[in-house]
Amino acid sequence: MAKRIAVVGTGYVGLVTSVGLSDFGNYVVGVDINTRIVEKLNSGTATIYEHGLEEYLQRNLKTQRLSFTTDIDAALKAAEIVFIAVGTPPKEDGSADLTQIERVVHSIADNLDAFQVIITKSTVPVGTNRWIERELTARAPGKEFAVVSNPEFLREGKAVQDFFHPDRVVLGCESEKAREYLEDVYRALNLIHVPFVWCNLETAELIKYASNAFLATKITYINQMANLAEAVGADIHTVARSMGMDGRISPKFLHPGPGYGGSCFPKDTRAIASTGDEFGVDMSIIKEVIAANEIQKERVAERLAFLTGPLKGKTVCLLGLAFKAETDDVRESPAITIVQRLLEQGATVNAHDPEAAHNFKALFGDRVTCFDTEFEALAGAEALLIVTEWNEYRNLDLARAREVMTGNVIYDTRNVLDSEKATSLGFVYAGIGRV
Ligand code: UDX
Repeated sequence: MAKRIAVVGTGYVGLVTSVGLSDFGNYVVGVDINTRIVEKLNSGTATIYEHGLEEYLQRNLKTQRLSFTTDIDAALKAAEIVFIAVGTPPKEDGSADLTQIERVVHSIADNLDAFQVIITKSTVPVGTNRWIERELTARAPGKEFAVVSNPEFLREGKAVQDFFHPDRVVLGCESEKAREYLEDVYRALNLIHVPFVWCNLETAELIKYASNAFLATKITYINQMANLAEAVGADIHTVARSMGMDGRISPKFLHPGPGYGGSCFPKDTRAIASTGDEFGVDMSIIKEVIAANEIQKERVAERLAFLTGPLKGKTVCLLGLAFKAETDDVRESPAITIVQRLLEQGATVNAHDPEAAHNFKALFGDRVTCFDTEFEALAGAEALLIVTEWNEYRNLDLARAREVMTGNVIYDTRNVLDSEKATSLGFVYAGIGRV
């Protein structure tokens, strides 16, 4: 039976959740404090770049099952279910900043009347949902509610696909009545046999961190193996392919690169390490992963300088600024560290990115010149640095690149170019872990 749902937060997680749940036939009101965002969404314009999202947004707006508002009180009063999908950015010490969560929880308490299921979709430190339970009990005495932890596993660039075809739905739920509500909300996924994991609140919270920290570890592992492969003359592609043939390892997330970025892995690894400190539990593996990932990003500018000689006065062209392909997101992108180091060493930085240039310029202003095409960015460059694995770079016209560049160094931190072709055109080509 369709449910009346409020989703608080229309960022990357909240917006995909609002659109997805309304597509399942629920009545969804998305809430945000930003009037401009709410107006854009109600007009059918997606405020984040996600493949397929705008079509789903427009389709569900048309059915009248989906709308957006800044009036959080009205949305909460009318909702049977509330999803909390606001940001939990890292604080200086690496722990998660929960001020946005607290603000929403207090609004929920102020508006709580009939039974309501409060579902935390945001990634929150282990123990936060238990705190929400205590806070609501204290601030809304006598009111009936249930708190549920329902972490998301959406990947940027594939968020719509991941919402409608998740590997599993994790539900930290300790109330039978809430469980019935959830089985209604997610019935569409049940019908396509997506496995549901029912557990307590802390288990659901830890599943999210354990999963993301493991993926970050796997990436860092293959990055270090790639560095070693380079040193010993082995080919990391063959190493990774052969590793992946072992069912226990799987071939996914074994692509070496300049280090992981994004709004999740850096934040979640720091948060789970901080939780370990809080409870006095050794999380040295994750702490090493965090440190090794920073080294991997620093290594890029060092290795480029090794290839080109001193960078001072040289022009370097970066192809790719987003933290990964198929997104415009530059949060914790390796390109940030790389550009900072290049500028510190006196290089001139030109760049191109099919989607993320505007976000990168917001950080670097005119210290980096972003161009509309790869070849404008390559003109006059002494070195080409591939940082993001956009498909269009895989087929870059290397002969034309050679013509417009003044130098012949290519450092391909994503191993997307044809090294033999590059070498045949007179380039000094370096990848990551390639012979
Ligand atoms: C991640 C998790 O995959 C997702 O389940 C969670 O909900 C949010 O965090 P996301 O951060 O969007 O998703 O990107 P992802 O595709 O996981 O890549 C994260 C980083 O790892 C990127 O910087 C990417 O370039 C890097 N990466 C990924 C590699 O360097 N090598 C790989 O093989 C895979």
